Amino acid sequence: MKVLVTGGTGYIGSHACVELLEAGYEVVIIDNLVNSKKEVCDSIESITGKKVVFYENDCCDKDALRKIFKENEGIEAVLHFAGLKAVGESVSKPILYYENNLGSTLSLITVMKEFNCKNIVFSSSATVYGDPTELPITENAVVGGTTNPYGTSKYFIERMLRDICVSDPDFSVVLLRYFNPIGAHKSGLIGENPNGIPNNLMPYIIKVATGELPILSVFGNDYDTHDGTGVRDYIHVVDLAKGHIKALEKAVKSKGTNVYNLGTGTGYSVLDLIETFKKVNNIDVPYKIVDRRPGDIAACYADPTKAYKELGWKATLGIEDMCRDSYHYVSKK
Ligand code: WQD
Repeated sequence: MKVLVTGGTGYIGSHACVELLEAGYEVVIIDNLVNSKKEVCDSIESITGKKVVFYENDCCDKDALRKIFKENEGIEAVLHFAGLKAVGESVSKPILYYENNLGSTLSLITVMKEFNCKNIVFSSSATVYGDPTELPITENAVVGGTTNPYGTSKYFIERMLRDICVSDPDFSVVLLRYFNPIGAHKSGLIGENPNGIPNNLMPYIIKVATGELPILSVFGNDYDTHDGTGVRDYIHVVDLAKGHIKALEKAVKSKGTNVYNLGTGTGYSVLDLIETFKKVNNIDVPYKIVDRRPGDIAACYADPTKAYKELGWKATLGIEDMCRDSYHYVSKK
């Protein structure tokens, strides 16, 4: 089966392409390279020994999408990762985020329907839950209490895709709500190492460990958690990628909308992650406690039961694997 992967040279998209190829799927990638490099295709091919078809295009460009569907007959499903994802940037540039994230999805769905491709797996986020009222979070929890345009765009896209399923009973949508993806493929050939000052915790820890940045700021230690620092459900990106294969299998044999949390079900604090990282990599990570980051929540972790029951998926890699693999990726560079 041929699958179109939007954002397939990105952090999660590239790991999903590896798992798709290793599961025997044919992979076509569309990526505008705003947040990644074309060389990631070479890494995917090195890991799997298999070729990908790559198009440097923007998902907002319907004609580019039409060309891809025409030149690659038989695309039966789409894994849709492409989108802008910096929470802070989204607050200062809401129009860009809504135009890009919603516009690209609407263009994609429009062209999918023209080519009778009616299966999509969408890269959503636990951020759609906002500040959870109870933990662990199940898929029945209230959504929509988002606090930034990035998270709101994910919530809006979930709603759009649900409406499309109502309008077209042949459509099949699987929404995957990621918790906090970290880690890297064990080969060290693909992973995450954003340029500049990272927003997220693990990329920042990495830059301090490598000496690129002097010290990590821990955003608050007065939360109602076991050590006062923020608790999150970190999930290895390879586990997350494998979840997409199970979601794809579900999408092609179902109709309507299905939604799943992709998390481990275990929460770790900022200090837990720092100390684990230091231990497994035998390296120091100097840090200081500073004020809370506006908009942050105390704790967020998944109830992953539904994905296990309905998809037969669960995370298998632990926090030590995540810390080891994250550092292995940058230390190989
Ligand atoms: C994790 C914890 C911070 C940086 C975001 C998005 C979410 C998803 C994952 C895409 C928090 C603390 C962080 C730092 C710190 N992305 N922290 N110092 O905020 O849980 O989620 O990324 O889907 O949508 O909202 O992740 O890694 O930014 O923060 O102390 O320099 O680390 O306060 O407790 P977050 P994060």
